[in-house]
Amino acid sequence: MKREEDIGQERFEDEGLLFLSLRPKNLSDYIGQKEMIGNLAISLEAAKVRGEPLDHIVFYGPPGLGKTTLAHIIAYEMGVKITTTSGPSLERAGDLVGILTNLQEGDILFIDEIHRLPRVVEEFLYPAMEDFRIDFVIDKGPYAKTINFNLKHFTLIGATTRAGLITAPLRERFGIFYHLDFYEDEDLAEIIKRSSKILDIEIDDKGAFEIGRRSRGTPRIANRLLKRVRDYAQIQAEGVITEEVAISALKTLKIDELGLSQTDRRLLEVIIIHYDGGPVGINALAATMHEESETIVEMVEPYLLKIGFLKRTSRGRVASKHAYFHLGFAQESDIQKKS
Ligand code: ADE
Repeated sequence: MKREEDIGQERFEDEGLLFLSLRPKNLSDYIGQKEMIGNLAISLEAAKVRGEPLDHIVFYGPPGLGKTTLAHIIAYEMGVKITTTSGPSLERAGDLVGILTNLQEGDILFIDEIHRLPRVVEEFLYPAMEDFRIDFVIDKGPYAKTINFNLKHFTLIGATTRAGLITAPLRERFGIFYHLDFYEDEDLAEIIKRSSKILDIEIDDKGAFEIGRRSRGTPRIANRLLKRVRDYAQIQAEGVITEEVAISALKTLKIDELGLSQTDRRLLEVIIIHYDGGPVGINALAATMHEESETIVEMVEPYLLKIGFLKRTSRGRVASKHAYFHLGFAQESDIQKKS
């Protein structure tokens, strides 16, 4: 992989394709999440002043809000190396031995989807996190031997969409917890303007705001929509993203006035039409939608919960009055018309 610097961004030349990273590289380029960024900046500065590695950190929140980006920014700001892996890809404790023993003082180990670590791997991590030591058993039966290995003081950064699924013993070994919430519309508009500059797309303030406010509070969605609207602007308009161009493009993408996608709307319609507005259990809902429950819980529900279109009750999911209204079901008797 070849790297070259450009407008402070990295260009990755991968299999002949030039892919420009839209991710901010340092804290000062980061837009949004002001309170969390402020706290993080203090922790980074304090660790630097003391000349110590950072405490282990967990980032939690819905997908696409910047957990991985922040881990890379921390490594950049601390001037250390980052090694990335994920919970499901670590099947055995042995998968971590090489990674851990190669970490230098202050280096970062980033584990995405940390709530999906297998139990044995998780237990292997406890002494590594707490005492920077691993106990590794080699061979079996009478020849089995335990080898102790001292590790350098590294920082583990875990990311999860499901903080509630991190076990108590693992949770207790982290020192810092940062919750990432959905972004404000104004911040998303800023992110879109920054990305447009990197991608060399002409966009005006109103165009950026229109895409931003329909990005479901999520920078990943904002950048994805920006690229699709750019395609539309180049082919169907003069190449400039104005409010009008953004509105027409988002219509062809079936992104509605509030930014809901077809999947979002289908989830609400299934609850309203098939289950009389709920309550309906997540498994029944997933089966009706032909989706995995996990996908619905992690990717679809969080934003609908945030805007109050969906409620989670002890008896299952319920669609709110706002959801009925938004989808054009003025009242329950209207359901017959749509079904
Ligand atoms: N690109 C994606 N997320 C971003 C953020 N939070 N700030 C700046 N650029 C971004």
